[in-house]
Amino acid sequence: MTDIAELNDYGADRTLFFIFGATGDLARRKLFPAFYSLYREGKLSDRFAVIGLARRSRTNEQFREDVRQSIQEFARYKGEEDKQWETFADHFHYMSLDINKLEAFQQLRGLADRLDETYDIGGNRLFYLALAPELFGSVSYNLRDGGLLETKGWRRLVIEKPFGYDLPSAEKLNEQIRQVFNEEEVYRIDHYLGKEMVQNIEVVRFANAFFEPLWNNKHIANIQITLSETVGVEERGGYYDHAGALRDMGQNHMLQMITMMAMEPPSRMEPEDIRDEKVKVLRSLRVFRDAEDVKSNVVRGQYSAGEMKGKPVPAYRNEEGVPSDSMTETYFAAKVFVDNFRWAGVPFYIRTGKRLPVKTTEVVVEFKNMPENVYFSRKTKLEPNLLVFRVNPTEGIYLKMNAKQPGSQWGIVPIAMDFCQSCEVGINTPEAYERLLYDAARGDSTYFTRWDEVALAWKFVDRIESAWREQSSELHPYAAGTWGPEAALTLLAQDGFKWWPVNGQHEGEVVWATPIVAK
Ligand code: BG6
Repeated sequence: MTDIAELNDYGADRTLFFIFGATGDLARRKLFPAFYSLYREGKLSDRFAVIGLARRSRTNEQFREDVRQSIQEFARYKGEEDKQWETFADHFHYMSLDINKLEAFQQLRGLADRLDETYDIGGNRLFYLALAPELFGSVSYNLRDGGLLETKGWRRLVIEKPFGYDLPSAEKLNEQIRQVFNEEEVYRIDHYLGKEMVQNIEVVRFANAFFEPLWNNKHIANIQITLSETVGVEERGGYYDHAGALRDMGQNHMLQMITMMAMEPPSRMEPEDIRDEKVKVLRSLRVFRDAEDVKSNVVRGQYSAGEMKGKPVPAYRNEEGVPSDSMTETYFAAKVFVDNFRWAGVPFYIRTGKRLPVKTTEVVVEFKNMPENVYFSRKTKLEPNLLVFRVNPTEGIYLKMNAKQPGSQWGIVPIAMDFCQSCEVGINTPEAYERLLYDAARGDSTYFTRWDEVALAWKFVDRIESAWREQSSELHPYAAGTWGPEAALTLLAQDGFKWWPVNGQHEGEVVWATPIVAK
């Protein structure tokens, strides 16, 4: 087993990367730019090669041109007029492949063996499936039967979400993959775990003497996690209408963020120890008893026509690929409990939706109020302390406290310490995919989801989905460009709380007080 800090001393291993779905959106927007950043930063040695695989026919030159364009458009570093570009591009190769044909994989083996020798890769193979999950099983079988796994180095399989549609389908998928790969060889991506500030949650919690002692139900009133998006379903209507917000964002990103907030400090800095702690959180999630329980704790909504930045936008039901009577949710909010000694009684409020007013990801920790009628609280209503992790698009940490109003007049004002990491000149944090690709190539599985995490997350979500099937009428409409259904406000109001504004944009509520910014 490898200690994470030790891993930091090494770059990525020598690796032959196989990108299945190399002409698709994910490869273009995220993977090629990620390779380039890693290369520019010296994190990939010269002993690597990439084989792009897709059905479309393409020469190596055409493929390299695709890669160049994607880097121009999406990378943190631009490839233009860059001396390193030519040497970088030489590592990219393309093969047109029908993933259902075993002969094609046998041919791929020939190419892989040749490249392995040319670049002195030592037999290490990373198979990245940027493909629909239905294909994971058959590609795995063909990799095995085509002889691609007979190599003297390591082999790893990197796969994208959605990992199944519910627990039974995820189990089936897992069984197929596991006929070919061991669990330790499977790297399941949840790209939120690759985000700088999501990884920072752990550090802020466990490396600061003044947070850890307060991190429990004695001092924390509630935790709020918001993943809001301004986009609608774009061209993904067909996929999205079968998934919905709960499966698309809840089962993975949101539950993963709960685990990062709630887990116990692992005893060792090793990937499996960290993942063990996350699993314990998922195991402690309070399961909704029945449909009534779901109804009282989970709100689902769907956007109707509205306005975004002054422009009219259509209702979800009028989006391309979406049936006009769709009952799929584009929003959900839920009150979730982690039933263990640390968290008993602390609600975790989570919400996500499409076509909300701002694109943002934030986690707010609301601390308990000072006792009422004691000293200052006797004279004035004190605002609760807040600690906010700003994940996206701003990356930073925000702390709200109470302090004396400057001047001779008596008064208490909320002040903010607002650390904006992404505003600092010179900090150009790596994209999530860069980190994850790098981690997979050096064998650090910390920020990938293990099978037991995936299974427990599905179990939790399936319970909600089945209640929704029984009560399909409980779908609240909300106009595009608004903060979602009223019922989501009630969810907190009935506990005496409110959603805190995100990025200071939440209209009609308390505005972030920033009279003094600590430097
Ligand atoms: C994906 C979802 O997992 O995450 C998308 O399938 C969503 O629907 C996306 O838009 C959001 O990711 P990010 O990094 O832009 O917040």
